[in-house]
Parts: sequence; structure tokens; C-alpha cells
Amino acid sequence: MAVKEKTVVIGVTGSISAYKAADLASRFTQVGFRVEVIMTEEAVQFITPLTFRNITGRPVVTTMWDLASEFSVEHVALAEAADIVLIAPATANIIAKIASGIADDMLTCTVLATKAPVVIAPAMNDNMWANEITQENVTRLKKRGFSFVGPGYGRLASGKMGLGRLTDLDEIYGVTLQVLGKKKGDLAGKKIVVTAGGTQEAVDPVRCLTNHSSGKMGYAIAIAARNRGAIVTLISGPTALPKPAGIKFVDVKSAEDMLKAVQEATKKADALIMAAAVADFRPAKPSSTKIKRVDIKDLTLYMEKTPDILGQVKGDFIRVGFAAESDDVVNNAVDKVKRKGLDLIVANDITEKDCGFGTDTNRVTIIDSKGKTEELPLLPKSEVADRILDRVGTLLKKR
Ligand code: C5P
Repeated sequence: MAVKEKTVVIGVTGSISAYKAADLASRFTQVGFRVEVIMTEEAVQFITPLTFRNITGRPVVTTMWDLASEFSVEHVALAEAADIVLIAPATANIIAKIASGIADDMLTCTVLATKAPVVIAPAMNDNMWANEITQENVTRLKKRGFSFVGPGYGRLASGKMGLGRLTDLDEIYGVTLQVLGKKKGDLAGKKIVVTAGGTQEAVDPVRCLTNHSSGKMGYAIAIAARNRGAIVTLISGPTALPKPAGIKFVDVKSAEDMLKAVQEATKKADALIMAAAVADFRPAKPSSTKIKRVDIKDLTLYMEKTPDILGQVKGDFIRVGFAAESDDVVNNAVDKVKRKGLDLIVANDITEKDCGFGTDTNRVTIIDSKGKTEELPLLPKSEVADRILDRVGTLLKKR
């Protein structure tokens, strides 16, 4: 999704967590959104408009009565400009006002007048959140298509623990992009299964054989697909990466686990993208007890082949494989497209600097089932992900 021409309107209301909205405004600005911030009168008590102005490079709206503001003349201008509205933090008060159709300040006017999707991230005292009046308002808004993210559980302004905190910012950011993708994305409604990370094959209850995969490429594909509106299942081997928001996450360890998860997830899939570095071999007879150093002089592991997931999984969906090669990259990949019956293979030379395992960039060649190649320059993995999804999108349209 090209975010460059997209406008996110961030509504900030009066909560101690209002300072966190500055981080959200920064994230959207950094990836290229035009960010328009509307603050309620109460929000201005907690954080200054100047903070948002400097982060977004845009004027900040705090009142309808500022004659110098371009928005006060056309009081629904932001409602029309918005591709998405995010209210974070959202107090019980703003939720109640929106649920009742009140439009007595710029934020509520904008929400009432907009046709864009609205995401609400509540933040309030736990009793206020649990109050049936608030819950009824939330249910009413959900029925009308408003999306909610959070609140989270943790320390509240009162000092006690409870459910009411502004939820994790990654979650708010991810869900907002997902909601926008569902409305405007080119993969809206497509079911895409992505695998990522390396598998772990047990030697004994303590040890395993694995590889250097960080999972970054697969996670980037899952996130990009979510942002383009796809319904994503991410099947991941152990990685150090945070679970992306708005994605069904299935964690697995071994190739065998991954096979079962892929078979289950692809029952209704439109595409399977296997970015995982699946072990090709595993110890044939893992020991059920820890192998002890004192018992043996040296150790030979007898290895057997793991199931070939891509080769084995049945169904009518687009199949995309990865080929991490250290030599003769393109020829090996062309061979793999045919052998595994793939629609596309993404080949990369893992010996190159800035490419492959653990890096944030990748240089890949995409090869189709006829052997036609598309060589991409060195790009951030997020952009490589979008280029792969462009190709998947084209294939899906042809079906
Ligand atoms: O043959 P090779 O392991 O290089 O093939 C790589 C592609 O096949 C990757 O997309 C990987 O996820 C997938 N694969 C698989 N099952 C295996 C090994 C690899 O699906 N056992």
C-alpha cells in the first residue's frame, strides 16, 4: 500500500497516556503518512500541541474557533481528508459522546462527519472501563463498524493494577494499518499463509539443531500482507521478533509441526508463502533423555530427511517458495520452481553482504513457473515483501 498519499487523523483526548500519542504520530509520519492531529481541550492539559506540530510538520487543531486555522472555516475538512481516523488515547467521555452522536468539538465533528474507518484505543480507570454504560457504548460503536484496540491490563494512573491502560503502541499501530488495509488494500479479504523463521529439530530434551534464520523476511511479508488487507496466518519457528498485531500467529518448533500447521492453515488459503528456513534433515532418533558427556567418547548423529512441506501440501492456492543459496543461485532456484511445482520462487545469495540471514535488507531475484526472472536491487525487507506481494496479487487476479 502506498502510504505516501494517505491521511491519518489522530484524535488525542484527555488521559495521562496522551504523551504516547506523540510516538504514534511519529511512527505514521516516518513511514510517509500525512498526519493531522486533533486535540481536545482536555488533551492540551496533558501534552502541548507544539509536540505534535513538530513531529508531524502540520498545524494541530485544538479548537473550532481559531479563525487563523484552515480547518475552522471548513469544519468537516479533516473528516473528508481522512483515510483513517485513530483516537488514541480515547477516554470514556469521548466514547460516550461518539456513541451518542454528539458533535460539540472538532474531534467529535470529524468523527460524526467522516466516511473513513475509525479505530479507538481506550484509556481510562478500570472501573470506568468495566462500567456497563461504557460497555454498552463500546458494543454500540462496534456494531456500527468502529474498531477497538485494547485497553490493556497494567498499572493505571491511580497506581493500582487493572484493565484500562492504553494498549501497546505496536498493537495500536498494527491494527490501524490493518483496518486501513481492509478498506483500501489490494489484497483485501485474501487469505494468505506465511511461514517464517528457522525450525528446531530435537537431538535430546535439551539440545536441538537449527539455523541462522531471524524470521525477518517472513515477518515483513506477513505485516505487508496485513497492511494490504489480507487475512494473514503467520506460522513461525522460534524467533526474537515481536508477534505482529492483527495477524493469526501459530508458533511451531520442528519441520513436522510446521507441516501440520501449514496443512491446517491452507485448507482455505488463497496463497502460501514459505519464507521459513525449514530444516532439511533432523536426528532420526532423538534421545528421550539428556545425552551425557561422561557416557560417550564422541557422538555421531544419524540424520533423516524432514518432510518437504511445499512439495507435500495439497490444495488450490498460489505457492511461493524461497531459495537461500550460496552458489549458482538462479539455476538452483529455477530447478526448485519446477521440482516443487511453485508459482514463484524468491532466490537470494546468502553469502552476499547486506542480504539473507539476520539483515534488514535483501537483494532477491523473483522467478516464475516459466523460468522468467525479475532481479530486484538491494532493498529493505519491507519493500522486498511488497514487491513479492505485487506478484502474488497479479497471480491472484488471474485466477
Ligand atoms: O530445497 P530447499 O530447502 O532449498 O527449498 C526451500 C523452500 O522450500 C523454502 O520455501 C522452504 O520454506 C521450503 N521447504 C519446505 N520444506 C522443507 C524444506 C524447505 O517447504 N523440508
